[in-house]
Amino acid sequence: MSDLPLKIDAAHLAPEVTPEQVAAWKDYLVWASDTLINGTGAGADFRGWLDPAEMVPDSQIDEIEEIARGLRERSETLVVIGIGGSYLGARAVIEALAEPYAPTVHYAGNSLSPVYHTRLLDAVKDKKLAVNVVSKSGTTTEPAVAFRYLRNLVEQQVGKDGAKDLIVATTDEKKGALRKVANEVGYHTLPIGDDVGGRYSVLSAVGLLPIAYAGIDIRALRQGAIDCKKAADSETDPLKNPILFYAAARNLLYRQGFLIEVFSEFEPRLHYLAEWWKQLVGESEGKDHISLFPASLEMTTDLHSLGQYMQEGRRQVIETFVILDPASEPNLPVPTGDDADELGYLVGKPMGEINYAAYQATALAHRDGGVPSQTITLPRLDAYTLGFLLYFFERAVGVSGYLMGVNPFNQPGVEAYKKNMFALLAKPGYEGETARLKDAVAKTPAGSTITFG
Ligand code: PA5
Repeated sequence: MSDLPLKIDAAHLAPEVTPEQVAAWKDYLVWASDTLINGTGAGADFRGWLDPAEMVPDSQIDEIEEIARGLRERSETLVVIGIGGSYLGARAVIEALAEPYAPTVHYAGNSLSPVYHTRLLDAVKDKKLAVNVVSKSGTTTEPAVAFRYLRNLVEQQVGKDGAKDLIVATTDEKKGALRKVANEVGYHTLPIGDDVGGRYSVLSAVGLLPIAYAGIDIRALRQGAIDCKKAADSETDPLKNPILFYAAARNLLYRQGFLIEVFSEFEPRLHYLAEWWKQLVGESEGKDHISLFPASLEMTTDLHSLGQYMQEGRRQVIETFVILDPASEPNLPVPTGDDADELGYLVGKPMGEINYAAYQATALAHRDGGVPSQTITLPRLDAYTLGFLLYFFERAVGVSGYLMGVNPFNQPGVEAYKKNMFALLAKPGYEGETARLKDAVAKTPAGSTITFG
């Protein structure tokens, strides 16, 4: 993997994890990687993302670009409706890469907040609006509810027929309520493969349509992922294959009792990349009562907040830094001044270099405080590199899941709240549970509700 556009610095993993320990795991890592590639492990039916070129052939890239172009011509803003894997990947890429003058993208259906949705509807009601509703199952409550409002709004703006040119549904090819609606009304649709779960879908039509709408080069994004796959396929030495190295290091640390992995970035544009990563890790590994809890920090902001915990709180944390090569950053030198602010020593220094020094200082301080870390450095922030990185994490989490002994592709735990909510809201089919749950909600144990004032 010598031509990677990213590199891992593992110096701060020692003494807990050394290159020798990782090298000694080679056979085990190759087993986990083969389990993923050959489809011999749990969840093997959900590996459609493994080959990004096969998942989205050139013809579909053409189609997505064509749809995005048409939507851009007819609208000034896009609302992406989706939750979890159906929107986080698109948002991660758009927030990282969209130029300030690109058409705006808003998000709906990722919560049930009436205030958020009221404000959103108000903000877009006078804009020429396009909507991309994304739901693999087509039955998820949050996006389904949001779609009602947005669909009504677009129909009010341009009429039912006009809305057909402005609404695109990305969903299962055959089943689900959204598929039914789209077929009945005649919306343009894009498919989500049966073999691709939401959190592995950013490089499919799920992520690519909104990303293309935002003016980002989806071919370069996909090429980054394709090249990451190629590099990953061609190297089994964990000291030369960063995917295997990363998966090994976090599993070795987990087995030593570390419980939390923090994704730390020094660039606010990567905020939603961290959110995407948390979902990828949390839903893939958080089951059977094992795994690392994924958390994230945004630096240097959080150094003045959770930085205290990182330095001196309970020692259960490991850290993965994702940083940018400062040479790729805009040159924003600190201006001269009268030095009453005591910043003379920084005059002329680009802000990116100060940010980089903050990262180096943090990694050292956290190491001294007992937090082992590894650092992924991106040579630059562009579509190609981000595509590479997205695939890097998808593949690493697939391998890591098998190392942890879980099925990295299911999410049975997500159903628990849904069943309760459906029963409480008396959704047809859940009547049997409605009475029991209403009773459970009403009958809180004596003394458990405390009213102040
Ligand atoms: O990663 C996942 O599978 C989930 O986060 C789903 O994407 C999320 O629950 C939304 O599901 P759907 O796309 O079916 O509406």
